Amino acid sequence: MKPFKLGLLGYGKMGKALIDGLIRQGFLDETNLFIYTPNSSPKAKEDHPGLNICVDAHEMCDKCNIILLAVKPQVLPSELIELRDHLKNKAIISIAAGISTESLIGLVDPSTQVIRVMPNLAVEVLQGVILLSKSHTLDPENLNICAVMFSKLGLVQLIDEAKMDIGSVLIGSGPAYIAYFMNAMKLGAAGQFSEDECFKMIYQTFIGTATYLQENGVHPNELIERVCSPNGSTIEGIKALKEHGVEDQIVHAVHQSEARAKALGKIGLVKK
Ligand SMILES: NC(=O)c1ccc[n+]([C@@H]2O[C@H](COP(=O)([O-])OP(=O)(O)OC[C@H]3O[C@@H](n4cnc5c(N)ncnc54)[C@H](OP(=O)(O)O)[C@@H]3O)[C@@H](O)[C@H]2O)c1
Repeated sequence: MKPFKLGLLGYGKMGKALIDGLIRQGFLDETNLFIYTPNSSPKAKEDHPGLNICVDAHEMCDKCNIILLAVKPQVLPSELIELRDHLKNKAIISIAAGISTESLIGLVDPSTQVIRVMPNLAVEVLQGVILLSKSHTLDPENLNICAVMFSKLGLVQLIDEAKMDIGSVLIGSGPAYIAYFMNAMKLGAAGQFSEDECFKMIYQTFIGTATYLQENGVHPNELIERVCSPNGSTIEGIKALKEHGVEDQIVHAVHQSEARAKALGKIGLVKK
């Protein structure tokens, strides 16, 4: 892999999580990292004393080959327009929710290479899922750098741009859906364990279930059958879930999140 210098715009929740993980994994040397963030530079310097703080975004872009844009989607279009000349012949990585690759390409110079990435918050614990949607502007070498870089933070999936909204729901909203289900399970056992004790059991049950499914190549419905013995306790619970249409409700929730992701993407396009 060719050596490169990474720029970071915005040391917020996601910018910090990505950088912390890449440094912790030994992928990135602090001295090759240049950041510009209006208010959080002292925090960034405290976390990573070796990194380079730039006086403005222009300097950061000028000193790097690949720039990770970790600002809010509302801020990104105006920043890209402002930085247009400084991003010529560079590669940009956008993690902004809802801003399509096509919109990004429309905002930068034709010589700027664009890749859209959607990480989920589990990158912070190096167990993330990271969706990549490449554009025709991106050369294979930079695609390879991005794929290797994000693989240090979790599972990388290269997907079509058209599936980015639904993909973002599965991996981005997914942790909130799963946390909701875990909390509901805890409520079902209310008053019987301490909260810590209960969540400890539930978390390990989720981890164990996912590992069992993955390692044995078993479909979730097959696992349900394996656990539900006739006249047993599990089958009663599964019956109750079915009677209350919980599966349909989850499908509906996924569709609602997807519709909202699409609507937010359109707002991003209008703002351009
Ligand atoms: N949070 C998530 O779980 C998640 C998941 C996937 C994707 N994303 C995407 O990640 C991006 C960042 O989200 P976040 O949750 O990390 O937001 P955040 O915590 O609010 O961080 C945004 C950062 O942007 C910086 N900033 C604001 N205006 C700027 C400017 N003009 N130039 C340079 N930096 C500027 C701020 O820097 P200062 O602190 O220095 O003021 C702030 O730290 C968003 O596009 C979001 O869609 C987030």
